[in-house]
Amino acid sequence: MSIISVVGARPNFMKIAPIINSFKKNKIKNFLVHTGQHYDKNMSKIFFQELGLPNPDLFLGVGSGTHAKQTAKIMIEFERICIKLNPKLVIVAGDVNSTMACAITAKKLNISVAHVEAGLRSFDSKMPEEINRILTDHISDLLFTTEKSANINLINEGIVKEKIHFVGNCMIDSVKKHIKNAEKINFFDKYNIQKNKYCLVTLHRPSNVDFERNLIKYVEMLNLMSKKIKIVFPVHPRTKIVLKKIGVKKSHKVLLLNPLPYIEFLSLINNARLVLTDSGGIQEETTYLGVQCMTLRKNTERPITTEKGTNHLVGTNTKNIMKVFNNIIDGNDKKGTIPSNWDGHSGTRITEVIKHFLSR
Ligand code: UD1
Repeated sequence: MSIISVVGARPNFMKIAPIINSFKKNKIKNFLVHTGQHYDKNMSKIFFQELGLPNPDLFLGVGSGTHAKQTAKIMIEFERICIKLNPKLVIVAGDVNSTMACAITAKKLNISVAHVEAGLRSFDSKMPEEINRILTDHISDLLFTTEKSANINLINEGIVKEKIHFVGNCMIDSVKKHIKNAEKINFFDKYNIQKNKYCLVTLHRPSNVDFERNLIKYVEMLNLMSKKIKIVFPVHPRTKIVLKKIGVKKSHKVLLLNPLPYIEFLSLINNARLVLTDSGGIQEETTYLGVQCMTLRKNTERPITTEKGTNHLVGTNTKNIMKVFNNIIDGNDKKGTIPSNWDGHSGTRITEVIKHFLSR
């Protein structure tokens, strides 16, 4: 077995799926490991079914925990697999704890590491993802980037040019592949909403949702927004815990939902008047689909989505967020373009680089 690919948490699945599909076409054998960082059916299994991912060859079942506990558990389990299978390459994606834990484990066993979505930087070390990105990039042998700013970041950090490959965005490969199916879904009656007449909301960053005070502030803001447009809010498990504590209940103007399957969620983005989020991937999906996105953060590691795309970085001050929200509702949309190499062929490009790398 020469390649192990790793997935662990929800945003990994749509990034790895196009690579595995391309491996299949090229008859490249791959061993798929799921760390089990995300384990609920609607945070994991549904995505495998919808994305056409094969069942994982191995499920490590590490589950939730503090950063140290979760990372340590993944490393212990993944080391066992690496020793047993002795692969030539381990592929990790994104910036979750599973990404960093498996990259470090492999590299310490002298196994080469490929990082999909390398080089992104928020320059905010309070974000656990930023630490995961930096550590993973600095020990990777192949760094696959989604936008040119990532190449610049890596070069500035002293990573040699030869390791960096600007392949585009695997997440967009998945969007392109599944958008037709998403267009067929009719959820308008189910949720009593209309095309272009709702705002889709996702919030799960620890800095936004872990502190009751912050979340109360955002709930009040959503209630205010709901006077102008219906709010559809699929709630991440992390956010649900705090919403429960502060006693938020469903209302007909703010629709609280469980986490949604990939294709339904894609459809909800595609038909939304605007999206309010603190996610990384959704900033990219909205830019590709030309949907207005307000990113409720002070920074973004995906600057191309604000420079070329439809993303508005609105910060965390609710007065300022409401100003941008009202501006969009009044019809002042930002025109966007699709960034280069976000064309549905990133998985193929990655496969070509890997083939060349393994044949050396
Ligand atoms: C993780 C990633 C984050 C990514 C997000 C996408 C890290 C450090 N963070 O954040 O970058 O944007 O996934 O969703 O890797 N839980 C469940 N069911 C699950 C998984 C989690 O109920 O299937 C709950 C548990 O209470 C858990 C909490 O969610 O403690 C947080 O899960 P965790 O994987 O630690 O981080 P996320 O917030 O999901």
